[in-house]
Amino acid sequence: MSYLKSTNHLTTEPLFEQVCIIGLGLIGASLAQAIKDNSLSKRLVAVDKHQPSISAALDQGLLDAGGSSLAQVVSGSDLIVIAIPVQAVSAAFTEIKAAMQSGILAYDCVISDVCSTKANVIAAANDVFATSRKGLPTGLVPAHPIAGAENSGYHARRSDLFINHSVIICPLASTDESAITKLRQLWESVGASVMSMDAQHHDAVLAHTSHLPHLLAYNLVDQLASHDDNLNMFRYAAGGFRDFTRIAASDPKMWHDIFFANQNAIIDALDEYSDYLQNIRKLIIDKDSTALMGLLGRAQAARRHFGHMLTSTPYTDTSAMSASYIISPNTSNAVNGTITIPGDKSISHRSIMFGSIAEGVTRVTGFLEGEDALATLQAFRDMGVTIEGPDNGKLTIHGVGMNGLKPSKTPIYMGNSGTSMRLLAGILAAQEFDSVLTGDTSLNKRPMERIASPLRQMGAIIQSTGTSGTSPLSITGRDKAGKPMQGIEYQMPVASAQIKSCLLLAGLWSEGTTTVTQPEVSRDHTERMLSAFGYDVNVDGNRISVEGGGKLTGGDIAVPADISSAAFFMVAAAISQGSELTLSQVGINPTRTGVIDILKLMNVDISLSNETHVGGEPVADITIRSSNLQGIEIPEHLVPLAIDEFPVLFVAASCAKGRTVLTGAKELRVKESDRIAVMADGLQTLGIDCTVTEDGLIIEGKGTQGQSDEMDNQQPVFGGGHITSHHDHRIAMSFAVASLRASKQIIIEGVETVNTSFPGFAELANQVGMSIEVDKGAETDNA
Ligand code: S3P
Repeated sequence: MSYLKSTNHLTTEPLFEQVCIIGLGLIGASLAQAIKDNSLSKRLVAVDKHQPSISAALDQGLLDAGGSSLAQVVSGSDLIVIAIPVQAVSAAFTEIKAAMQSGILAYDCVISDVCSTKANVIAAANDVFATSRKGLPTGLVPAHPIAGAENSGYHARRSDLFINHSVIICPLASTDESAITKLRQLWESVGASVMSMDAQHHDAVLAHTSHLPHLLAYNLVDQLASHDDNLNMFRYAAGGFRDFTRIAASDPKMWHDIFFANQNAIIDALDEYSDYLQNIRKLIIDKDSTALMGLLGRAQAARRHFGHMLTSTPYTDTSAMSASYIISPNTSNAVNGTITIPGDKSISHRSIMFGSIAEGVTRVTGFLEGEDALATLQAFRDMGVTIEGPDNGKLTIHGVGMNGLKPSKTPIYMGNSGTSMRLLAGILAAQEFDSVLTGDTSLNKRPMERIASPLRQMGAIIQSTGTSGTSPLSITGRDKAGKPMQGIEYQMPVASAQIKSCLLLAGLWSEGTTTVTQPEVSRDHTERMLSAFGYDVNVDGNRISVEGGGKLTGGDIAVPADISSAAFFMVAAAISQGSELTLSQVGINPTRTGVIDILKLMNVDISLSNETHVGGEPVADITIRSSNLQGIEIPEHLVPLAIDEFPVLFVAASCAKGRTVLTGAKELRVKESDRIAVMADGLQTLGIDCTVTEDGLIIEGKGTQGQSDEMDNQQPVFGGGHITSHHDHRIAMSFAVASLRASKQIIIEGVETVNTSFPGFAELANQVGMSIEVDKGAETDNA
C-alpha cells in the first residue's frame, strides 16, 4: 500500500540513494516500512543490537542490509535516521563521526533523529563533534515525529503511522538548506505535515503538552495505588480515572529517560502546574464560586475548541469542507406548523460584549449558541471574564467593568464572524494592552480598513496585517500610545451597523464626544442595548453620539428570535403550495424588518400578531401563507434593513412573476461571500435567468401567477444540480429553501457554516415538512 502524498517520487527518482535507520523499534521500523512502501530510497539498511529484529527485517525483504554496528552497513548512505532511546544517541553520533573520518560516509550526509526531546540531542552532537575539524555535520537536522502507538517494537510497525501526524524539525545554524528540504520531503511523502521550530521551544512545548500529562498520569495512579484500600479504589474508579490515566500504561523506561532528558522544561511545567493546583485548592477552600465557575468554564470551552484555538485554524475547517445537504423533489412541498427560531445573532454578540464590560452580573436568555456568537463568548473568556453557560440559551456574565478586561494570551480567534471582529476592534483599540484579532479564511478576506481607518483618526494604533486591508488585526495598547483615544465626528461612507457600533464602542473610552452619521438607517441594537445598560446614547436621526468616560450596569437580557434566520422560513412558506407557517416571537426591530416590507411588496401573505416587547426589543408572531409572488423593484432605502436576507429574497424573486431588480446593494459583495456573484452562479445552475450588476442583481422570475383565486406555486421553477456554499451559511440555507420548487435533486456542498448562525436549521426545516438529508461527509476533527 502506498501513502505517498505528492506523486513526484513515483515518476522521478527516489529521494535517497540509501537510507540507514539506526534502531528498528516502533518508530524506526515504521519509517523503514513507509520508505519501502513509498519507494523513497534505492536502498534501505538498518542497525540494531537486537539481532532478531534485523533478521526478521532481512527475511521479509524490508532491508537490503542490516547489522549490529553502523560501520557494517552505512557506506553509501545519504540519510541516517537515529531512532533509538535518547540516552543512546551520543554513542550513535560517535559511530557516525568515526564513519565520516574513515571516509565510508560523506560529511554532507543528511542526519536526523526521532527523539522526543531535542536540546539534549543537540548537546550530544555538539559534544561528539566538538573535536572534529569540520564541526557539526551540515546535514544534521534534529526532528521529532509526534506519533506513537500502544504497542512497541519491530513487529508493531505500521507504514501508515505518520499519516496526518505532525513532525517538528529543529534546524540548527549549521544546517544546510538542502538537508532541510530533503528531510521535509521524506516526512511529507510518508503522510506527515512538517513544522519547524527551535529546539528550546520544542522542548518547552512538549514538556507541557506531552511530558507533564504523562508524569501526572503515572503519579495519580501511584497515588491511588498507595492507598490501603487500593483494591476498592480501583474497583470503583470510573471513566474519569481510566481516561485520565490511560497513558500511564506506556513504557516506564522510555518516560524515565524523557523526564531526565527534558529536566529543565519539565520542572518549569511542573512548577506552573503546582501554582495552578494551589490556586484551585484555594478557590474551593474559599468557596469562591464565581472564580471557580470562571476557571471551569474557561477550561471547558478551551478543551472543546483547543484544536482551532491553538492553531488559529477555523472552528469549521473550510479547507476540508465536506458536509452537504441532499434534497430530492417531494410529492408535497407544503411547510406547516408553529416553530421557534433560534436567538438573534446581533443581539447575542452584544449581550456578551456589553455584559462583560458592565459592572455587576448580566443574565441572558435565548442566547444563540451558533459558532459566531460562541467566538465572541470565547474571546471574552480569553480576556478573563467569567461567563457561565451557555446552557439552553442561558448565560450568566460576571461583568468586569470598563477597566477590567485582561490581555488574551493567544491571538483572539473570531472564526467566521465579521461582527465579532469589527465590534471587538473598537473595544480593544481603547484598552491598555496589545491584542491580535484573527479569523478563518473567509473572515481574513473581508475588508477591515473600513473600521481601522476611522479608529486611527481617533488615535488608535491598529494595523490590518492581511494582504489587502484585511485581518489579522494587530492593535497596540494605550499604555504605549501614551494618551487615550479622542472622540471624532465621522461621516460613514456606507450604512453599516458594524462600523457604527465599532466607533461608538471605542467612543466609550475616548475623550470627548464620538459622533457617527450614517447615510441610511442601519440596525440599531448597539444604541438600544447601550441605553438598556444605562449608558447615554444620543440619537438624532442618522447622527448618533456617545460621551466617553461613562459606565455600563449589568442586567437581564432576553434575546428575541432572529428575523434573519426566520427569513428562510418566511420565503419557504411563501413559495410552496398549501403552506401556513407561524414563527413565534421573532424580533421585529424596525431597523431589521426590511424583509417583511419587501415580501409584502412582492404580494406575500404575511401577518403579525401578539406584538409585544422583550428586553427592549419589539417582537411578534409572524404568520406566512403560500402566495403568488410578484417581481418588484426593491426600494433602495430598504437595502440596509434587509442586508442579510437578500440571498433568500433572490430565491423568492426567482419564484415571482416578472422581473425583480435590486440596486444599491454593493455591500452584499463583502459579506461572508460575494453574495451577488455567488447567488447568481447558483441560480443560473438551477436554470434561472439573472444578470449581475455592479451593485445588485436582476432576476427574471419564473412564476406564472394564476388567477387571483388560483395558486401558481406548485410548478417547479428550479432545475437541479450541485451548488457550492462558498463557506457562506446564508447561501447554503437559501438554496435549501429553493429546493421546495425544484424539479430535480439539489446538492448543496459546504454546509458546515450553517452552524455559525442557525444550528439545527435542517432539523427544524424537516420538522415543518421539508426533506433535507444531511451528509456529514468526512470527519474534519483537527484537534
Ligand atoms: C451586523 C451588521 C450587518 C450584518 C451582520 C450583522 C451587526 O453588517 O450584515 O450580519 O450585528 O451589526 P454591516 O453592518 O456591515 O452591514
